[in-house]
Amino acid sequence: MVRLTEEQWRAFAAVRLRALRDTLGAQDRQYRSEEAFTAAQWRRRLRAHTQFAAVLDDRMVGLIGVQRESADSAYLYSLWLEPSARRRGLAHELVTAAVDWARDERMRTVTLRVEEDNDVALGVYQDLGFTMDATVTAGNPDEVTMRLNVG
Ligand SMILES: CC(C)(COP(=O)(O)OP(=O)(O)OC[C@H]1O[C@@H](n2cnc3c(N)ncnc32)[C@H](O)[C@@H]1OP(=O)(O)O)[C@@H](O)C(=O)NCCC(=O)NCCS
Repeated sequence: MVRLTEEQWRAFAAVRLRALRDTLGAQDRQYRSEEAFTAAQWRRRLRAHTQFAAVLDDRMVGLIGVQRESADSAYLYSLWLEPSARRRGLAHELVTAAVDWARDERMRTVTLRVEEDNDVALGVYQDLGFTMDATVTAGNPDEVTMRLNVG
């Protein structure tokens, strides 16, 4: 797993846009907004949030984002693997890289949101020790919040 730097913004932008197109579609508002990002906006995204990429045969095939949510908590988002790169354990490795980052940053918990019928993603998170957090209601009623203690 590779932690992306600002200099890698072009490759990051290409995979991020592929992920948005794959999950939301080319007509989606978020896709259209990010499609119009300038180099400066992509660089800003990479400065503000930590991004890890999965690389297969020298090609970037997946992403995960993680950001500090509060002094002791990290928020993990936008896990995506290119369809041809799935079922090789790369999602497990991306989530592990993000969790390790949070632990190294001395955070105590990692949270994420996932659609309640996304069985593959739920399986990945549960395998890695995440549990459902019923005390937090996600903005979207179809999503559940999961939490992992790391500190
Ligand atoms: C969810 C997603 C990220 C999983 O990515 P992935 O790389 O296929 O995940 P992994 O390979 O780590 O694990 C997924 C499955 O592959 C299995 N697997 C892992 N390594 C494997 C291997 N070497 N051979 C066969 N299967 C394997 C895992 O056991 C798991 O099995 P399951 O489907 O029975 O639960 C991917 O399907 C995706 O991008 N989906 C669309 C976006 C999305 O839903 N993102 C999550 C938003 S919260």
